[in-house]
Amino acid sequence: MMDAAAAGAKGASALLDVFAMIDFEPVSGAGVTLKSADGREYLDFYGGHAVALLGYGHPRLLAALGRQAGDLFFQSNLVPMAVRERAARALVDFAPAGLDRVFFVNSGAEANENALRIAFRATGRAVVVAIEGAFHGRSAAAAAVTAGSAKWNGFPSTPFEVRWVPFDDEEALAAALDESVAALILEPVQGVAGARALSPSFLRTARDLTRGCGSLLVFDEVQCGMGRTGWPFAATAMEVTPDLLTTAKGLAGGFPAGAVLVPECLAHGIKRGDLGSTFGGGPMACALIETVISVILDEGLLANVRRLSARIQAECRVGPVTAVQGAGFLLGLRTTRPASDVLKELRARGILAGGSADPNVVRLLPPLVLRDDHVDRLISTLSEIPA
Ligand SMILES: Cc1ncc(COP(=O)(O)O)c(C=O)c1O
Repeated sequence: MMDAAAAGAKGASALLDVFAMIDFEPVSGAGVTLKSADGREYLDFYGGHAVALLGYGHPRLLAALGRQAGDLFFQSNLVPMAVRERAARALVDFAPAGLDRVFFVNSGAEANENALRIAFRATGRAVVVAIEGAFHGRSAAAAAVTAGSAKWNGFPSTPFEVRWVPFDDEEALAAALDESVAALILEPVQGVAGARALSPSFLRTARDLTRGCGSLLVFDEVQCGMGRTGWPFAATAMEVTPDLLTTAKGLAGGFPAGAVLVPECLAHGIKRGDLGSTFGGGPMACALIETVISVILDEGLLANVRRLSARIQAECRVGPVTAVQGAGFLLGLRTTRPASDVLKELRARGILAGGSADPNVVRLLPPLVLRDDHVDRLISTLSEIPA
């Protein structure tokens, strides 16, 4: 136990010191631009870990927030609410055909936790297959299928058996899947690993093999979903429909929200009381989910992502960048120098980006409302940075 003097010596903050923070304090934002406490402006190519899907201060998000807060700030899942029904319908219509029912939660980890719970119940099996490099969250089940979680897991044991498959290795996947496997969980484009897209062939094989042995295929689209690949979901782009799809991060444009999407055939087996959440599906989150989806469609943001992603991939191999990987607006810039150095150089020139588990990959997760002039600025700034 730390004594009071030692605690005092840590400084004035009452927050637990668990995040390695960067030296930048945002105080306001507009569009893709953030203003810091010292009055500087930054172009945000990171979107607060992919959450600021529509950037900052989008007028339709602000209007929906104000309207819903005025009408009804909160009520629980024990009462029906039109706004919750509308959000669920909008999400189902946006998602790949066949994923017809939604369970709303508050975060990515909670969405994955519930997807796995559904898979265990539906199959009566006890093993999960996961992909090396995966990040699925910090709660018990999500951490069990997160690569390297032994470093921070903190629980005395993992809750079920996990079999690990090397990235994009179809043979190893075939060897890992059998009739003891409840689910294969994967990110179609791994985020934390450094924006690594699984190949279409691997995803099709995953679909065929899981169907063959009666395991459920779970797509974790917490980071790569909600339009970020330039399609509603990566599943849409790859034309592979999973049995369960999870999403969160940008789902409500910055308000905490997550969701598990389920086909009708699985929904039949889920009974009242099997799942639950106090805050999940609250009216504020639902008003924003409905609005985020409308804005993506009304403003043609999917086409915007595809066009500008193609530009970034074609034109950003300048300065310290040797290659660009990933998809849509989940991109990794492979750098000659450590990514942490490049991030500092970018920040000094007014651009925010992120790191990844790969020390030579700078991760870009810009808002979907990015414009050509922002991409021009990224390219010219990168070309000023020594290789
Ligand atoms: C792919 C993926 N899944 C799950 C999570 C966990 O989400 P949350 O932090 O909202 O629990 C993350 C967070 O980075 C993620 O990138």
